[in-house]
Amino acid sequence: MSETPAPAPRAEGPATPVLRAEGLVKTHHGEGASARAVRGVDLALRPGEFVAVTGPSGAGKSTLLHLLGGLQRPDAGSVWLDGTRADDWSEARWAVERRKRIGIVFQFFNLVSNLSVADNVELPALLAGVPPKQARAKRIELLAELGLDGKDRSLPGELSGGEQQRVALARALVNHPPLLLADEPAGSLDSKGTREVMRLLSRFHGRGQTILLVTHDARLASAADRVISFFDGRIADDAELDGMPTRGTGISGVLELTD
Ligand SMILES: Nc1ncnc2c1ncn2[C@@H]1O[C@H](COP(=O)(O)OP(=O)(O)OP(=O)(O)O)[C@@H](O)[C@H]1O
Ligand SMILES: [Mg+2]
Repeated sequence: MSETPAPAPRAEGPATPVLRAEGLVKTHHGEGASARAVRGVDLALRPGEFVAVTGPSGAGKSTLLHLLGGLQRPDAGSVWLDGTRADDWSEARWAVERRKRIGIVFQFFNLVSNLSVADNVELPALLAGVPPKQARAKRIELLAELGLDGKDRSLPGELSGGEQQRVALARALVNHPPLLLADEPAGSLDSKGTREVMRLLSRFHGRGQTILLVTHDARLASAADRVISFFDGRIADDAELDGMPTRGTGISGVLELTD
């Protein structure tokens, strides 16, 4: 009888965080005074966790999200994805890894202005090698779920802010990323639009995917398993919500209240 092979050594313990940051620091040097946006952040997201980040304007929430997604480089500290150190990756490596495992919704959408809605949503899938037919089917499904039927051929500039925001969410979800980083995905939506976004996030969370959501919306934040209050570049509070919901039930609970 052959011996059972020893398990491959893991970079970290059994519950390797999907995303981990240690000692993150970032100062912006713009035209005006420099802004110490992130001043020493330690953070770990467990697989399947839904974490909301709230805090006042200018607290550094978007900067933190950009550091975690490799869109900006920290001045100090480290970022780890699934136990692998990532802050020293090249931009090309980050681009590839994001395509595979991170969906990002930017605060200001970042849609490609001269591509149609359909192409904006399908692009990440096509870049990841998904067959065009499949990318198209996924796009149709996501846009329908987000109440954007009939907008496929529109250019982003022909949509309202809230519609653009939903297109950005569809684009972030098209590759089923295990991790979603979303910066105010419902920021300019009315309550119906917010419910649609919540419903989609709920499904995403229910499938065990991990979400880090920056939001001013108390309803969205209350759907999370854990809420981080960000203030002046630091985590001021980090709390599991009472009676931590089992996967996915958090948002649907809130949905019932708002429906
Ligand atoms: N590219 C930049 N150049 C210079 N300063 C910047 C830049 N980006 C952000 N800042 C500054 O860094 C600080 C944190 O900004 P950040 O966008 O991270 O805040 P935020 O918490 O996301 O705010 P909001 O809720 O308004 O979106 C602010 O003082 C902002 O002015
Ligand atoms: Mg912001």
